[in-house]
Amino acid sequence: MTGRLDTIVVLDHPKYEVNVGTAMRSAVAFGADVVILVGRRYEREPGDVFHAQKFLDVLPVPSWERALELIGDIPIVVLERLPAAMRLRTLEHPPRAAYVFGPEDGSVHPDVVAFARYRVQIPHAQSENAAWGCLNLATSIGIVLYDRFCRSGASDLRRSV
Ligand SMILES: C[S@@+](CC[C@H](N)C(=O)[O-])C[C@H]1O[C@@H](n2cnc3c(N)ncnc32)[C@H](O)[C@@H]1O
Repeated sequence: MTGRLDTIVVLDHPKYEVNVGTAMRSAVAFGADVVILVGRRYEREPGDVFHAQKFLDVLPVPSWERALELIGDIPIVVLERLPAAMRLRTLEHPPRAAYVFGPEDGSVHPDVVAFARYRVQIPHAQSENAAWGCLNLATSIGIVLYDRFCRSGASDLRRSV
């Protein structure tokens, strides 16, 4: 990684390549600087039609130990449905942040949840419905990055299409 990093996206052991590719596409669109992939379980990213690596660093790492070295002192924001998690709209996005998302078939590593500066959930119409479930991984990433993008004022500075 080179230069100052403001927005890091971390995927904890993602399983489906289409989610990884879609996440990378959102990461580029909403101005992230790097995507860290902790533990690889897929072969390629077909949703990444614009080839994210031309625009940002995509770093596959084998373990959380290495990911935490790369993140350094940048505040970690874990996205997860947790009873004590704050709602996304109450989060004041830190100037520099590493947003961590769990796998499609699991959750963010508990040690990382405990270590995180913020634990955040995205409320939705089925939040209270125990028989429903979580949002799709790539959808969650798009929502959080768009929220950061809008609230940073960056969306006002660019020509809308
Ligand atoms: C398909 S979900 C995995 C199952 C999820 N851990 C659960 O509690 O049901 C994949 C990831 O998307 C993110 N996610 C999904 N729905 C979310 C929500 N409502 N709030 C925050 N993060 C969410 C989390 O990072 C989660 O680990």
